[in-house]
Amino acid sequence: MYELREYLPDDYAACRALWVELTQHHRDIYDAPTIGGDDPGADFDEYLEMENRAISWVATLDGGVVGLTGLLIEGSEAEVEPVIVTASQRGSGIGSALVNRAIGEVRDRGLTSIKVRPVARNASALQFFHGAGFQTLGHVELFMSLGESKREWNSEIAFHDREWRD
Ligand SMILES: CC(C)(COP(=O)(O)OP(=O)(O)OC[C@H]1O[C@@H](n2cnc3c(N)ncnc32)[C@H](O)[C@@H]1OP(=O)(O)O)[C@@H](O)C(=O)NCCC(=O)NCCS
Repeated sequence: MYELREYLPDDYAACRALWVELTQHHRDIYDAPTIGGDDPGADFDEYLEMENRAISWVATLDGGVVGLTGLLIEGSEAEVEPVIVTASQRGSGIGSALVNRAIGEVRDRGLTSIKVRPVARNASALQFFHGAGFQTLGHVELFMSLGESKREWNSEIAFHDREWRD
């Protein structure tokens, strides 16, 4: 059975590897092998240094780290970032346990809201977060690709009487 605990410096290598898995997931869904650059684990180093990173937790199984989450906090608002479960252990409740730990922490701290910002094409994450209680849409980020973008956009999505791509 998995266990949850706070992130410790000894978890660094395992969590950096989890971050690489998150990047790989994004590379897969966008069919874009350059996402995250040559060293995608470097984004985990930046994450650790973020001034608003309040706390991070890991899930462990048989002594090994299999999941990571954390909270960024600005004033009375919290953001869950990241949520990653290693691919071989997905679908067994670890992601839910991590997110529920984060929600509980936000309640305990008396903060007023908690958000998460998955990319629009991350359907499995959107379904996961919806099930975890994130069912209110906040800000929506819109953009247009300029220049030499080779990325293929797909899935026409109806939202407020318009069609969108992700
Ligand atoms: C999203 C993620 C954290 C979920 O973790 P998990 O441990 O697999 O999730 P759980 O087992 O707790 O699943 C809880 C519920 O989420 C939903 N869910 C989980 N994975 C899903 C998937 N691939 N597709 C659709 N729904 C999914 C299910 O409703 C599930 O409930 P069920 O067990 O009753 O079926 C994990 O799949 C992951 O690491 N994905 C890659 C990284 C990522 O995209 N992170 C989010 C970035 S914002």
